Amino acid sequence: MKLYIFLSFLIVAGCSQQTSRTNTVGILADSAMVVSAHPLASHVGATILRKGGNAVDAAIATQFALAVVYPSAGNIGGGGFMVLRQKDGTATTLDYREKAPAAASAIMYLDSAGEVLEDLSARGHLASGVPGTVAGLAEAHVKYGSLPWKDLVQPAIDIALKGFVLTEREAKSLNNLQEDLKEFNSIEPTFLIKEWKGGDSIFYTDLGHTLERIRDNGAAGFYEGKTADDLVAEMQRGNGLITHQDLKTYKATWREPLRFKYKEYNVISMGPPSSGGIALAQLLKSVEPYPIAKWGHNSAPTVHLMTEAERRAYADRSVYLGDPDFFDVPAEELLSPMYIAERMKNFNPERATPSHEIKEGSIADHESKQTTHLSVVDSKGNAVAVTTTLNDSYGSRVIVAGSGFFLNDEMDDFSVKPGVPNMYGAIGGEANKIEPGKRMLSSMTPTILEKNGKLFMVVGTPGGTTIITSVFQTILNVIEHKMTMQEAVAAKRIHSQWLPDSIFAETGALLADDSVSLSRLGHAIHLRTDGIGRVDAILVQPNGKLEGGADPRGDDTAEGF
Ligand code: DON
Repeated sequence: MKLYIFLSFLIVAGCSQQTSRTNTVGILADSAMVVSAHPLASHVGATILRKGGNAVDAAIATQFALAVVYPSAGNIGGGGFMVLRQKDGTATTLDYREKAPAAASAIMYLDSAGEVLEDLSARGHLASGVPGTVAGLAEAHVKYGSLPWKDLVQPAIDIALKGFVLTEREAKSLNNLQEDLKEFNSIEPTFLIKEWKGGDSIFYTDLGHTLERIRDNGAAGFYEGKTADDLVAEMQRGNGLITHQDLKTYKATWREPLRFKYKEYNVISMGPPSSGGIALAQLLKSVEPYPIAKWGHNSAPTVHLMTEAERRAYADRSVYLGDPDFFDVPAEELLSPMYIAERMKNFNPERATPSHEIKEGSIADHESKQTTHLSVVDSKGNAVAVTTTLNDSYGSRVIVAGSGFFLNDEMDDFSVKPGVPNMYGAIGGEANKIEPGKRMLSSMTPTILEKNGKLFMVVGTPGGTTIITSVFQTILNVIEHKMTMQEAVAAKRIHSQWLPDSIFAETGALLADDSVSLSRLGHAIHLRTDGIGRVDAILVQPNGKLEGGADPRGDDTAEGF
């Protein structure tokens, strides 16, 4: 069975009459806030802020805590991106995306006939890229941290060793994992194998001790010594590729942010190897000339316009975006106003363009060659947006025996064969083919917005390829549809991505009339019965107070003061 997460929940839409506006304001704070996927992790981050730590300190501590309390996506065995805007307005991004191991190759998931070996890039030991999270967090701390490193790791250690109480949702999630835990691990992680209930206490002893080594030795506590030995032994037991050399040579990379303007807002987002920033820029610039505030949230004309912009942006993504260290990404061309105007020139308000009529745009002289987000603002006005991932929920399902953490299945984000969709239905080619040491293309879109030169919003989400469109909608919900942060995060979402040629709509996202109008224009509409995304965001209100937007689709929580 091919693991199409993206496609597996679809049934033809029967759309409801309910409106998706919630009329709620999120948690408010005077000056500092953390919003993350789990109440305990948000509490760890907020406690660091109360102790005088800055936004980077809080983001580091929150991520370590998420690795314990939210192990389906919070991680030390995965990777991520951090977007940082300091109080003086300077901004940077940190890329700690996983890399293909040195022994990886473009044909590693193909059989001798050149056909894709199903699920090999998504489950088990061969699915993992070299983890980047610990290197990233250590690098962020060296450059921008203010509290001692050990103080940022210790809360996660305490939770792992002293145990914590499972939420209903987390218990259910672990119960769904039981078969995979048995199938994909070389040594069964017996401590996780049981029927869980909300309210049960859970302990992550091996992970707690791994975090102690990270506390005491920094990144070396992960990339060298016992943790590295355990990881490499795990790889050898399961025919994986990651070696001591891969671990030792992994480095996180500071990159220039991707910046653009939407109306009077400056947007600061993640550039390649994420496709998020570029695609988000293309989407916002494509819809900017149109009166979507007047058309209304999720109305047929608005959804039609967004879908048409999305199919063009995702067609570009499939050809032009990959790791900039390996592939010459034509970012400037993709973002030029002339190029975007040209792409939208054949937008027809009366008709959906079938995706097979859409190709990537033409760029002169260009050779064709379960994730989680957290948003933090500190009382000085520094802001951090972090999206971090194992890829699928619990990544490869493999736990490093002896060290107690899940490994990613990020290799599936490469194009394992040109034109063959990955688990999110995304296709790619040369730009995103597997090469040793290369970073796989991501959709993660941690983003910060400014208005009048001041911090305005911190936003991001998990959701594979739906990340980009969820961030896109959340921004439009606030700026165009005048929603509060909490409303913007909770509002029902839609998604489209060129291929498959469909609009995916959460239950209740579209009124029946709008759904009929969209079908008449030629759109195929499918219902997504699971949610789209788990957006966590912070909005600076005109009076300077912070409003948290914590996604009700999960256990997500805002905590501030
Ligand atoms: O980097 C990416 O685009 C994906 N690995 C993200 C995966 C994800 O968001 C899964 N969460 N639901």
